[in-house]
Amino acid sequence: MSLVVTGATGQLGRLVIASLLRTTPAADIVALVRSRAKAADLEALGVTLREADYGRPETLAQAFRAGDKVLLISSSELGKRDAQHRAVIKAASAAGVAQVIYTSVLHADTSKLGLAADHRDTEAALAASGLSWVVLRNGWYTENYAASIPPALAHNAFIGGAGNGKISSAARADYADAAAIVLTRDIPSGTIYELAGDEAYTLTEFAAAIEKAAGKPVPYVDMSEAEFKKALEGAGLPEPVAALLSDSDAAAAKGALFDDSRTLSKLIGRPTTPYVDTVKAAVKA
Ligand SMILES: NC(=O)c1ccc[n+]([C@@H]2O[C@H](COP(=O)([O-])OP(=O)(O)OC[C@H]3O[C@@H](n4cnc5c(N)ncnc54)[C@H](OP(=O)(O)O)[C@@H]3O)[C@@H](O)[C@H]2O)c1
Repeated sequence: MSLVVTGATGQLGRLVIASLLRTTPAADIVALVRSRAKAADLEALGVTLREADYGRPETLAQAFRAGDKVLLISSSELGKRDAQHRAVIKAASAAGVAQVIYTSVLHADTSKLGLAADHRDTEAALAASGLSWVVLRNGWYTENYAASIPPALAHNAFIGGAGNGKISSAARADYADAAAIVLTRDIPSGTIYELAGDEAYTLTEFAAAIEKAAGKPVPYVDMSEAEFKKALEGAGLPEPVAALLSDSDAAAAKGALFDDSRTLSKLIGRPTTPYVDTVKAAVKA
């Protein structure tokens, strides 16, 4: 039986493999990748590579073996994800894999985030597949907001549209550890984990953490969804990405990124990474 990680050359996938390698022989790990060249470092660690593209079903036919446990990391190709995930589930089912573990989004069933629709569809496809399945409903990565620290430092303002919404984000590495643990344990089919950080903050508090780390004023400037989208497009982001981020902040203002269950820290057996640590690292970089 192999532990198969899709999206293995992505940021989360690499962290899952690093986490798995702490407890599992490399010979038991398969990285499903689009590009062998991009995965040369994983191969050098002894991880087996299989090539497949979610968007090319003919490549997925060779991707899985009977008995594999598969972590399906959701695709980053917005607008194509539902069909891509369904193609992966179909191939996994045809191969007779032991279980599919899917990275969904926090509170996918009720979430007001626009991007939750794809995740709801994929969760429904899994439930209808006849496969054994587990869903990791991942909350926000703290790195999503930390990515805006360089422009915030350049312009002396941290912009957003989340109002006073509380955000329970965690570091990618925290979600990766959770995925590795679920891959290596026997988890009953139908288990859903709502995963989020231990602490919740508003973007005003996030900006205050930037100010403290940088030693200069970087106030939070709250915008309407339309204003924030326009500002992101003005900064050079493509329209669909600006739309997704501004929609996500508008939903966060209404609590879509908040969860206080501490399921993530219970699962990984340690506190989640404090957001202030992620902020400090980003300011230092
Ligand atoms: N929870 C959050 O805050 C949050 C934030 C952003 C995204 N996400 C979701 O979580 C996923 C993982 O996050 P991440 O940070 O690791 O994203 P990432 O670094 O962009 O990685 C995405 C991975 O998906 C792979 N992929 C994309 N399209 C594919 C296709 N057609 N066939 C096969 N593989 C494909 C990419 O392959 P290549 O390496 O070949 O490009 C990459 O390995 C994202 O894809 C997205 O669905 C969650």
